[in-house]
Parts: sequence; structure tokens; C-alpha cells
Amino acid sequence: MEHSETACLQFTPSQAQMLDHASQGLANMGGPQAKGAAQQARAHAHRLSATLAPPQQSLLQRFAQGSLSALLFSRMRAPAGAPPEHLPSLATLEHDSDCLYLAARNQLLLALTDYRAFAFDIDNNGKLVRLVANFKGGGHAPLAGEVPLQPAELSSHSGLPLGPHTEAPYNCSVQACHGHSPAPSALILTARWNPAGEPTQIIPLPAIIERLGGLHALALTSPSFDFTRSDCFVHGQGAAGNAIAMLQYNPHGGFSMRYNAYRFSLNERACAAAGRAFETFQALLRNTPPIPFVLQADNALLINNCRALHGRDILRDNRRLLVRLFGYSPFARPSVLNDDPLLVRG
Ligand SMILES: [Fe+2]
Repeated sequence: MEHSETACLQFTPSQAQMLDHASQGLANMGGPQAKGAAQQARAHAHRLSATLAPPQQSLLQRFAQGSLSALLFSRMRAPAGAPPEHLPSLATLEHDSDCLYLAARNQLLLALTDYRAFAFDIDNNGKLVRLVANFKGGGHAPLAGEVPLQPAELSSHSGLPLGPHTEAPYNCSVQACHGHSPAPSALILTARWNPAGEPTQIIPLPAIIERLGGLHALALTSPSFDFTRSDCFVHGQGAAGNAIAMLQYNPHGGFSMRYNAYRFSLNERACAAAGRAFETFQALLRNTPPIPFVLQADNALLINNCRALHGRDILRDNRRLLVRLFGYSPFARPSVLNDDPLLVRG
């Protein structure tokens, strides 16, 4: 666990109890999608924050300043109940009280670092809570009724392996540009069930960028890269992108990266230097062992989406169910469509 880019904040039993009551209260009012939940989450976070010891506070500060790739929250209370024999449908799970509780807890944990939970209009049907599981096939074991050899969509609603990536959209990282809101500053994941202990992989980027060297890093800041459209975007919305930069300077943490191993390619007009930088970056990525985090209901992983890539292997146990929220840091300047719940233009 110990790594300069990742850290673990362990709650005490009384903090865990406080967090449990607060999360239950937020879930009772409807969870992150409910009007007023964001304000309540901030109020609960404020009260919880007052009980944190200085070492716990300093971990939150490191994340808030952009100098941590990932922060694991642990020793929280978990909803009771063994995993079912089969994963219920997405529609059923979206109304499940335990999923709502975990989503509410994620919102509160985001608020502890001053981050705001939000949704993109073009992604996940405009909803703040994303349930991540094999609903659409492509996992190690076929789903009931899954047609073999039929290609599954490449998104967190399938069981396919997802190579290292930051979360879309990929147009910009901090300030809205050309009508697109920035990529999420962070994502937070917890597990409702993860019976086989299948890990979420994290690749911190600072060491890779340092090994890449100044000239290659500069080349990645040029508008030389294309990306394909994400499968989780709303039908008919969201688009592929051309000639965007992968890397930019960011005063909060030093840089912001946008990259997806299975969606990014070199633009046809890119110069040779950009091509060499792209190849070197990908080679360094292949040679960097990811840091595995096994998510369970009693922990949650907050990932800096500017500073770290994440990914996963093919899903082996189709009951694995994660609950994800996106967060914006206080520095992010999105194009806001609705304040409460926060909905932004993708
Ligand atoms: Fe992802």
C-alpha cells in the first residue's frame, strides 16, 4: 500500500459510525441525484472533518492539492448481506437501498476533499451514480442469454478488460473549452460486491512523465492526438475528437493528462516528434506495473483523474458491482446546465 503517490485514510470506529449515519440520511433523501443532497453532504463532511486527526487531515489535503494519485478510504461500515447467486438487473440495482447508501457515502467522501459530485449530460443518461458491472456481456463467463462472439460494448457496463485510461471527455481538463466541460477531476469507486476480489488497477503518472523527459512531454502537449467516442455516451451524443493535446500544465499538481489506451491514436497530421513521444509514452506504460486495489463495501478509492490512469482486467465473477461517482475539484470550471443536482455539458 505504501507508495508516495497513493495513501490510505483509515477511519476510527466512531468516525465510521458517524459516516454510516450520515450516509444513511443522505440515502433516505434519495442519494446524490436528490435536490439538496450536495448541500447536506457538505454539512456532514464538515462535521466529520472536525473529528479527523492531523495525519488524516493531511492526507485529505495532499489529495485536494493534487499531489496524490489515489486515496483509499478504509474501515468503513459495510451493508450486510452475502452476494446473490446472480447479479440483479441494472434497473433493479438503481433502486437498491444499499447501492444508494454507497453512492451517498461516495458523495460525502468527495465532499471531505471539497470535491462536488456531478454528471455529464451526454454520459450515463445524465445520472450522477454509475453502477459498474457486467450488464452487457464480454466477461470471462457469459451472461444468461449472452450471444457468443457478439462484440460487447467497450464500457464499464460490460465485462471486457479496460486498458489504462483517464475518464472522458478528453477535450480539456480544468476549464471548459469550445462548449465542452472539463474531464472529471476525480472519480470515486466502492464495491457493493466483489466476491473474487478482482482489483482496480492504478498507474500514477508522475514517474512516467519524468522518465519520458522534457522534450517528449512537451510533444504530448501539442494537438496531435485523436480519440474515439465513448460507448457509455447517450445515443446520438458525444463525439470523437481530433487534434487534441494529451498533456497540459496544471498549477494544482503540476500537470493534467488525458489518455485512453483503447481510444487514443496519433492524428494523421502529427509531426514525427509527437509520434515518437506517443510511442515512448505507451512503451513506458507497458513497462509500469499497476498498483492493485481490491474494492469492497467497507472501502472506497478516490482517484485523481488528472494524475493517474486506471483500468481493470476482464471480469471473472459477474456479481462484481462497483458504485462510481465523478467529482470536480474547486478549481474546475465546467459549463453548468443545472446546479442541483450538478449537471454539466459534456
Ligand atoms: Fe474508467
